[in-house]
Amino acid sequence: MNDVPHPQALRWAADAQAIEILDQTRLPEHEVYLRIDTPEQMVEAIRALRVRGAPAIGVAAALLLALAAAGHLHLRRAPLLARIDETAGLLATARPTAVNLAWAVERVRHLAHALPAEMSPLELVERLRAEADAILAEDRAMCRALGEHGLTLLPKDDPLTVLTHCNAGALATAGMGTALAPVYLAHAAGRRVRVFADETRPLLQGSRITAWELQRAGIEVTVLPDNAGASLLRSERIDAVLVGADRIAANGDVANKIGTYGLAVLARRHGVPFYVFAPTSTVDPGTPDGEAIPIEQRGAAEVIRGFGRLTAPEHVAVYAPPFDVTPAALVDAIVTDRGVHRPPYDFLRGAA
Ligand code: MRU
Repeated sequence: MNDVPHPQALRWAADAQAIEILDQTRLPEHEVYLRIDTPEQMVEAIRALRVRGAPAIGVAAALLLALAAAGHLHLRRAPLLARIDETAGLLATARPTAVNLAWAVERVRHLAHALPAEMSPLELVERLRAEADAILAEDRAMCRALGEHGLTLLPKDDPLTVLTHCNAGALATAGMGTALAPVYLAHAAGRRVRVFADETRPLLQGSRITAWELQRAGIEVTVLPDNAGASLLRSERIDAVLVGADRIAANGDVANKIGTYGLAVLARRHGVPFYVFAPTSTVDPGTPDGEAIPIEQRGAAEVIRGFGRLTAPEHVAVYAPPFDVTPAALVDAIVTDRGVHRPPYDFLRGAA
């Protein structure tokens, strides 16, 4: 399955007593894996965006919950379940917009409660570990499925030229990414692929992370400041805009990194198809539309002192939501592991 080379956002440590995450705050200058073995360390890593991207934070939190449960083997069932619930609560709320986080944590927590009462604590934690491993393996398979479905939408042109925003690549998942999965597959098949990567203000996930992972994979990548998107779409032939998602409402409205909405408006203006890629776990049937999606709050310092240097007067008012909502009407198709979905959306059914 892992035959398309790409960097890894996270993995079990060799001794299986910790999770190693690639500290994405240090890219592109330093490639450093951090060893994480407590819930508090994982919450810090998720909040600080050391591990980031909706699928990756879900997988990381699920692995950590299973690991933390194994640290309470001395407890009887009821206190063990209480500790699991407490840790799950901490992890699930570390970031609110990406629904995969709460989904993955709940999957492990729910299993702990559903297992037979006579099961020993040792057996129980082994089952939780297997469930977390299944979430990781499914995430990898999901990425490949997204890539294969995505390729059916894209022209067979040589080169294939796409524009992307933020990072929806390998470093946002446990596999080869969501929006970038068709890019990796096309490249692996020997096609020439050109990727334009929005810098993605304010934390530069596009230039620091997308450009880093694509360059490393030998895929042609060009970084542009976010405000060059309009001019690029007018002057270059772009086959499609490909983005990921942090939460997809039942009506097809899509929450993703700030700037995605503006890009969708620009793509429509220039007649370029706008495609969203996400696992089914990013679809939240409990959220009817974009209005109901909780948008995370982050500090003003990310905008005015993002990389250590003051770039606006101190104490100036800052407007900087980290995510925006793209209305379904601006999205040409949503690709999940079940296939290509078009309106009216029914994500739980198979798709074309
Ligand atoms: O704040 P981030 O870097 O976690 O934001 C990530 C994004 O917005 C991604 O596009 C989204 O999580 C999809 S990743 C496959």
